[in-house]
Amino acid sequence: MARLKVGILISGRGSNMAALIEATRDPSYPAEIACVVSNVASAAGLEIARKAGVAAVAIPHKDFPDRESFDRAVSDELEKHGVGLVALAGFMRIQSPWFPQHWAGQIINIHPSLLPAFKGLHVQQQALDAGARISGCTVHFVTPELDSGPIIAQAAVPVLAGDTAGTLAGRILRQEHRLYPLVVRWFAEGRVRLTAGRVEVDGVPQGATLLFSPDP
Ligand code: GRF
Repeated sequence: MARLKVGILISGRGSNMAALIEATRDPSYPAEIACVVSNVASAAGLEIARKAGVAAVAIPHKDFPDRESFDRAVSDELEKHGVGLVALAGFMRIQSPWFPQHWAGQIINIHPSLLPAFKGLHVQQQALDAGARISGCTVHFVTPELDSGPIIAQAAVPVLAGDTAGTLAGRILRQEHRLYPLVVRWFAEGRVRLTAGRVEVDGVPQGATLLFSPDP
């Protein structure tokens, strides 16, 4: 069976991208990474992708007069590779409404908090400042409003005494690397979709949409 072609958008180190590429090494995984696009030419993830044999291009946003013309260029690149799912993975560029509308139901993001708590930047510090005892990560469909699209799955981790933003980020990131490949698998299997603004998930065992994983 043909594998779903996934396009990944990054801006930096690309560890979630690397986790997705790693998942696709299993021949039974139902998706492949068709291309990686970065708005930052120096993003470390581009080199990681190339070394793994994945097409990876930089499209610097600075080369475009406005957000939408940049977004259209990125979209053209994804379409050139026959992408059926766009996965944002540390993509630090706010998109014009055109992009998520154009890819509606076919674009997802991973965010390092339990949304709807702690949107935007420095979210681990936000969680610490609020005294949250549990945090985690969320995979959601992307809509024009930042970090607000319908939630597909979450993984929770404890916030421990003595945590810094860095230690909490590391604990969350380990769960991101489990959760994102899982959700991409569900999407590729046709088990997750966006219908009238709501997420429908079939055949996913109850409980699997929330992984609670204290560190050993
Ligand atoms: C991750 O924490 C992700 O949730 C957030 O940005 C970070 C990207 O990290 N959106 P990486 O580039 O995947 O290592």
